[in-house]
Amino acid sequence: MCGIVAYVGPKEAYPVILKGLKRLEYRGYDSSGVALLNSGLKVYKKKGKVAELEDSLLGKDVHANIGIGHTRWATHGEPCDRNAHPHQSENGKLAMIHNGIIENYSQLKNELVKKGYNFISDTDTEVLLKFIEDIQKNNNCSLEEAVRIALKRVVGAYVIVLIDQDNPDTLIAARKGSPLVIGIGKGEHFLASDASPIIEYTKEVVYVNDYELAIIRPDELILKNLGNEKITPYVTKLDMELAAIEKGGYDHFMLKEIFEQPDTIFDCLRGRLDAVNASITMAGVQNNIDQIKNASRIIIIACGTSWHAALLAEYIFEELCRIPVEVEYASEFRYRNPIVKQGDVIIAVSQSGETADTLVAIEKAKEQGALIFGVVNVVGSSIARISNAGAYTHAGPEIGVASTKAFTAQLVVLTLIALKVAHEKGSIETKRFVQLLNELHDIPEKVKAALKTADAVKKLADKYKDAKDFLYLGRGYNFPIALEGALKLKEISYIHAEGYPAAEMKHGPIALVDETLPVVFVATKDSYHEKIVSNIQEIKARKGKVIAIVTEGDETITAMADDVIAVPEADEIVAPILSVIPLQLLSYYIGIAKDLDVDKPRNLAKSVTVE
Ligand code: F6R
Repeated sequence: MCGIVAYVGPKEAYPVILKGLKRLEYRGYDSSGVALLNSGLKVYKKKGKVAELEDSLLGKDVHANIGIGHTRWATHGEPCDRNAHPHQSENGKLAMIHNGIIENYSQLKNELVKKGYNFISDTDTEVLLKFIEDIQKNNNCSLEEAVRIALKRVVGAYVIVLIDQDNPDTLIAARKGSPLVIGIGKGEHFLASDASPIIEYTKEVVYVNDYELAIIRPDELILKNLGNEKITPYVTKLDMELAAIEKGGYDHFMLKEIFEQPDTIFDCLRGRLDAVNASITMAGVQNNIDQIKNASRIIIIACGTSWHAALLAEYIFEELCRIPVEVEYASEFRYRNPIVKQGDVIIAVSQSGETADTLVAIEKAKEQGALIFGVVNVVGSSIARISNAGAYTHAGPEIGVASTKAFTAQLVVLTLIALKVAHEKGSIETKRFVQLLNELHDIPEKVKAALKTADAVKKLADKYKDAKDFLYLGRGYNFPIALEGALKLKEISYIHAEGYPAAEMKHGPIALVDETLPVVFVATKDSYHEKIVSNIQEIKARKGKVIAIVTEGDETITAMADDVIAVPEADEIVAPILSVIPLQLLSYYIGIAKDLDVDKPRNLAKSVTVE
């Protein structure tokens, strides 16, 4: 949430920063800005998307070899030019960008107001910058020292990057709780919230850790802790290609990512699943197998779409491994006083690996002695690094703000983990184990077939795009898919939608049903099939419009529903990976039919690095 980019080196900084901001726009798109240092410090900011900033700078002097840029997701203060970053110090010599929240900003602000400081914006960022300025002035110290002193008093999360007119070849950056990657080029450095703005210039990167401060010049990168001790930067190589973060001929990233799923699922299975020899290779699980298979309890922590993957995993783990599972919203878990015992295994599920609530929740559980197992997509992310063990989902960069391919990859990885643990534990019969391995092996091809429903789903989108509300119902393994379908629709089309267990509908939501309400049943063939047929009848009896996602050849539901989308037959444990595909497409096509920005829905950000 909020994207930052900075550059220092021989190149023109502005084009590098602008391109980087466009790549990071998924992190926030309320407003954006740049600060460029040439003969003097120039700061340009604009409400709206990065393209609006770009337009406003046509014909302006943007020449500089050092600069910082920011795309904002508002926390303190409405989106407007005034609240956009970078912010400037009172003396006009410093500019700063910030991603995160300074929790004690009002206390710091009161102190500064008493000293006569003026505030132009409503942001916590301007407060922190003026606090740093004040420390530098009072202590007559370097900017680096002032930053260090200031950060010791700051409560909250941040990545900050400062540019200083008095030191025109130096950027100062620091991190706690929000991500920061530094790309190392030849005589140049790139800073960004993730690797996507950096990848086309260099693959050598340093992930800055919490409580580290970086002093960056064209030829020099110095890392220090807040105690002013030098730290050797740990340089890693990015395993990512530029093509992975471009649209590749699709109109939108969301559509591209939906259609990539046969490949991303294949990549996720590659090297792990061996259906011929009936084995699963997952080092993170294998190295901790005794602790996992003997766990008294597994707690899965996540947010949003990842929480839906976690909920489905609960059903699968309990069925296959016979280990009690609890699924927790990270934001709730971190603030209550949860009981975590040694012997508990915590699985953290996160696409970005940076979600603040998830990160803090697992830090808390780790302190209490639990094993933390990360199921994360972004390699090198904070959750990946804090976990004791883990398995990457290998879905590749997900740029569309609504999660699609990362979700199915999470389902695949979680199913693989459950199968491996069950096999090692002996809680699954070999025949069933082999059968499910084969089912997973066939999934990429079946997803390909499920994607062929796109044209039919598009027609449905046109038919139902003006509905005011939708209800999504499912039972058993398809219940989390109903929740996910409803969330996707809300995010992308701004239509109110609710997901419910199909049987629970009778206990309240049925009051909503009339001839205007589309009810999406996720009703592929499984052990609940007859039950869900009854639920469909209950909706039809009240004149609701039934859209059913069914298994190919399902004549019973086809005869009852108003509209049917069929996906290939699959075992009930893996069928949700197929049934979610038409739901992703439905939200996409309704969003398109309503002429909405499906890649950047209003108010959302991809990586929620504030609580
Ligand atoms: C929905 C969506 C969000 C995320 C949630 C968690 O499409 O993308 O609900 O799933 O913000 O994010 P991660 O998985 O990055 O922790």
